[in-house]
Amino acid sequence: MPQEPGPTERAQIAILISGRGSNMVALAEAARDGQIPNAEIAIVISDEANAGGLVKAEEFGLETLIVERRGRPRVEHDREVIAALQARHIDLICLAGYMRVLSRVFIDAYRGRILNIHPSLLPLFPGLDAQQQALDHAATSSGCTVHFVDETLDGGPIISQRAVPVHKDDTAESLSARILIEEHKLYPEAVVMVLGGIDPLPTARV
Ligand code: GRF
Repeated sequence: MPQEPGPTERAQIAILISGRGSNMVALAEAARDGQIPNAEIAIVISDEANAGGLVKAEEFGLETLIVERRGRPRVEHDREVIAALQARHIDLICLAGYMRVLSRVFIDAYRGRILNIHPSLLPLFPGLDAQQQALDHAATSSGCTVHFVDETLDGGPIISQRAVPVHKDDTAESLSARILIEEHKLYPEAVVMVLGGIDPLPTARV
């Protein structure tokens, strides 16, 4: 289990991505602008070498690391990521469009310190294509959720949510775009909540 940051230290945040990284950018901007006090983005890790978010992270001057997942057992891949996190004394991990399900080894190493953002009001519409699921169910509202990551699929304790209306003429693309605007506000706020000490999981610190 990583150590709690001391009172004068800045919390070290790692962001894990697989794609375009717009939530990573939202977190990086918030950290840069002081909206996430006493914290810094220490590293951005991608499991995809061509993730668009890597270029954006470099534009922010952030350290980036590619840990390719293809053709490797999940636990072997996760152990390499964990080693990179431990080497940088990471306190909090933010999954931001990270398309890899974490192994038990990863979750146990950082239990209560891994966050994810999902484009629905969980527990509704977990898994892939959450926005299309909302349309398929004729939902009149959907939204986004930041939650702790545990062994379940998008089922860990909820930290914060934001609702978004679903319009009659919405497509998955138009709904995704409306939800994404709220994701970019929600994720930094949720990180502030967690770093400020909302108690994550009753069992997280044993
Ligand atoms: C977001 O919709 C997020 O909720 C989901 O994957 C998408 C990632 O987008 N988990 P981005 O890479 O942050 O732009």
